[in-house]
Amino acid sequence: MVLLFGPPGVGKGTQADLLSKRDKFIKFSTGDMLREEVASKSDLGNEIVDYLNHGALVPDNIISALASQFIEKHKADHILFDGFPRNLNQAQTLTKDLKRLLLSLKVAIEMHLDETEIIERLRNRRYCPQCNKIYNYVTNPPRQEQVCDICKTALVKRNDDDEKVIRKRLDVYEKETRPLVDYYKSHRIYERVEATDSQEEVFKKISHIINAHTD
Ligand code: AP5
Repeated sequence: MVLLFGPPGVGKGTQADLLSKRDKFIKFSTGDMLREEVASKSDLGNEIVDYLNHGALVPDNIISALASQFIEKHKADHILFDGFPRNLNQAQTLTKDLKRLLLSLKVAIEMHLDETEIIERLRNRRYCPQCNKIYNYVTNPPRQEQVCDICKTALVKRNDDDEKVIRKRLDVYEKETRPLVDYYKSHRIYERVEATDSQEEVFKKISHIINAHTD
């Protein structure tokens, strides 16, 4: 079990996709899961849509219930947590859930990037609402403009990739999620990666850390 955390736009989803394709990880991406609920207009989706659009955290009871179900179902797999946990309460619940199943996290990797670069990456991000593939008009453009390479669906901009909401998400990260650094340091599984390099270079660094903690 491995965890990736870091501010919005740092590249967690991009790396989670690469790790699940190349290293057989099953990813648990709360952001993707919640956006799918919103898109399907389910009861849960209608309940959480405002949190997502305003860059606020969805309540812990909703998130921890989704996580517990996922972990129970995939307890025999290598799970990669992407964007979860987001605060100390979620982290403590995760530790307890894993312990109950005699499992544990091997490493918690924080990805780091300067704020200016984060905003630039998010301004140019588009994603496929069908298969969730992430693009960037500058650093990772689709082959055909505005169309997903894989499923040919029209690419969209996320509602929360508006500059005001990006700043709110950065604030939420500092206040709510940053304390995870000390939490995972105290569990001796914390690692940090600079995310300024290309996707491939960042992938190599993350893979190296994971291998060192799982061999
Ligand atoms: P979530 O979807 O998790 O959003 P986030 O954490 O804000 O992160 P992002 O998805 O914006 O960015 P990322 O780090 O994945 O970067 P990406 O790979 O796309 O959460 C959304 C919302 O859901 C939250 O605000 C909250 O409301 C709710 N939520 C989610 N989890 C929750 C939880 N546990 N508890 C409560 N609420 C929760 O990359 C960004 C861009 O950069 C892309 O265009 C990409 O192509 C590009 N890029 C990536 N890597 C590189 C690189 N190395 N070089 C150049 N460009 C790159």
